[in-house]
Amino acid sequence: MHNNLFTTTILILFFFSNYSAAHDGIGCGRWKPMLNITNPWVVDIGKFAVHEHNKQDHASIKFVKLLKGEQVEAIGTFYNLTIKTTNGSVDTTCWTLVCDDPFVQVRRLVLFKWF
Ligand SMILES: *[C@@H]1O[C@H](CO)[C@@H](O)[C@H](O)[C@H]1NC(C)=O
Ligand SMILES: *[C@@H]1O[C@H](CO)[C@@H](O)[C@H](O)[C@H]1NC(C)=O
Ligand SMILES: *[C@@H]1O[C@H](CO)[C@@H](O)[C@H](O)[C@H]1NC(C)=O
Repeated sequence: MHNNLFTTTILILFFFSNYSAAHDGIGCGRWKPMLNITNPWVVDIGKFAVHEHNKQDHASIKFVKLLKGEQVEAIGTFYNLTIKTTNGSVDTTCWTLVCDDPFVQVRRLVLFKWF
């Protein structure tokens, strides 16, 4: 219940920020490309996304590396990360949305999609 409400709120924020970035760029909802995706803390968020996906879907893919990242400040920070993963033999690419709020120590996988 609480989870669903949270996710819905996130999705609304997500689409709103996407909208404003595309249409007027006013306010805090602006996606910014991440210039350095080798930073350990971004890599950590990418690994978290893969780990959460494995937990939720009983999968066992492995994080390989980040390919691309964008972030937007809302309630906490949202990371749109394109991640290269592998199942041990075949590499795949996914994109994920992670919400991270260090102040309240919340980190959540919001979306996980295969490319
Ligand atoms: C990117 O981050 C890594 C790890 O923090 C650092 O070693 C590297 O110098 C940074 N690269 C650039 C271009 O800032
Ligand atoms: C997130 O990144 C993917 C891959 O670059 C892109 O297709 C998608 O539009 C991005 N989403 C947002 C909300 O920026
Ligand atoms: C990885 O995925 C490929 C394609 O879906 C599959 O053929 C292969 O058996 C998988 N390998 C492992 C180790 O799960």
